[in-house]
Amino acid sequence: MERGALLYTGKAKNMYATDNPEELWAEYKDQATALNGKKKVAIAGKGTLGRQISSLLFTEINAQGMPTHFIKTLNETAMLVKKCDMIPLEAVVRNFASGSFERKFQVEHLKPLKPAVHEFYYKSDPLDDPFINDEQIIALGYADKDTLVAIHKFADQVNAYLFQRFAGIGIKLVDFKLEFGYLADGQMVLADELSPDNFRLVDAETGASLDKDVFRKGEGPLAPVYAGVLKRLQAGE
Ligand code: C5P
Repeated sequence: MERGALLYTGKAKNMYATDNPEELWAEYKDQATALNGKKKVAIAGKGTLGRQISSLLFTEINAQGMPTHFIKTLNETAMLVKKCDMIPLEAVVRNFASGSFERKFQVEHLKPLKPAVHEFYYKSDPLDDPFINDEQIIALGYADKDTLVAIHKFADQVNAYLFQRFAGIGIKLVDFKLEFGYLADGQMVLADELSPDNFRLVDAETGASLDKDVFRKGEGPLAPVYAGVLKRLQAGE
């Protein structure tokens, strides 16, 4: 498999063409960003860790019968994925209050949220990814009603699996962000990445942050935190 032309540069990944027009090379970067890219730092080893955690979780979610874009691992920092027409939405699922939700409603940190809260954000760098509700999405043509029903169901299924998976290794899955896309045949799949860049994780015993919040809050080096999550996931397989 040859890496072809650079097609897209994201905050955490670069996407390259391959010799198959339906497959892309996703290269995880040694870079962390926060505040929608306004805070950016190079972190040695982060690309490998993000790729390793994502490969592991995509493999498990595929095995649960939930379709994803993941095909296979290519090397330490790269994976082969199915080319998707991305839906321009970030689907956030929250099990406990934290981050923007905690700030918005001024509620107790890690207050359990039942049912889990679903939120959408419209992916737009110039607009800073604004909150968008289901009717706004439909009215603006970013997705239709059936697609939203499918995303809500998919997000609940991913949450049910990951919540238990992390609980089994002593980690609370506080919240996370998913992105979806369509394959050439019209099937909707889970895309983007599954790593502590997109998840908020808290150690169930100590309450320590085990995700990008460590970087957002300047609480210390990020790579050892991601390495610890990977180790716990591998031990709990
Ligand atoms: O900041 P907020 O509390 O809204 O984030 C909720 C969840 O979505 C967190 O797990 C965060 O890491 C994730 N997120 C993300 N990409 C964004 C915004 C939020 O992965 N652009």
